[in-house]
Amino acid sequence: MKKIQVSPSILSANFSKLGEDIKRLEQNGADMIHVDVMDGHFVPNLTIGPPVIKSLRKYTKLPFDVHLMIDPVHKYIKDYSDAGADIITFHPEATENILETINLIKSLDKKVGISLNPDTEITAAEEHLDKIDLVLIMSVYPGFGGQKFINKVVKKVEDLDQIRKERKLNFKIEIDGGINFETSKIAVEAGVDILVSGTTVFKENNGDLKRNIKTLKQI
Ligand code: DX5
Ligand code: ZN
Repeated sequence: MKKIQVSPSILSANFSKLGEDIKRLEQNGADMIHVDVMDGHFVPNLTIGPPVIKSLRKYTKLPFDVHLMIDPVHKYIKDYSDAGADIITFHPEATENILETINLIKSLDKKVGISLNPDTEITAAEEHLDKIDLVLIMSVYPGFGGQKFINKVVKKVEDLDQIRKERKLNFKIEIDGGINFETSKIAVEAGVDILVSGTTVFKENNGDLKRNIKTLKQI
């Protein structure tokens, strides 16, 4: 059976104690830390930028899985890399040249992800699938935690998994939004390798991080 990874979104953490929450995630079985960066323009919400990520870096050895919901994205890539991002994921709509942005991230020795919104087709990333490390499938419209899983994206995960098999590619499939103990199973069944979760990890079972992360990994 394949190993499922969980990338908890700190959007649902206690923002006055982010460092401590990140430490607790590491101690309780998280595989990486999902950092949602929002600009109030590409998405209708504002979150955190490079200085906050930099200040959090010393709290964990886990990879920072940085999800950039900012437009334009290209000119800010180096800032997030310098701040300590390990995986840098961007939305194709937010750059004028997808290939240049991929190459920039690679030149900084970081892993590259492309994120597909619920209404964005695989074709938006298809020609680049051999060059990237992961595809982040949005299962909600980005902007806020706590939304309901959009079922239609399951087909997109299945199609992507099929393409991956046919072309013998190695990118991971990550899913983000509305992941709970039921939708996690549907997603993994469809081909997902990495589950992002904010609300479920931090709020279920009175915030029992260990139990919630463990349960998400059980399929
Ligand atoms: C949405 C963010 C997600 C979100 C996940 O724009 O990208 O990471 O916070 O949160 P839940 O698990 O609450 O849907
Ligand atoms: Zn995210």
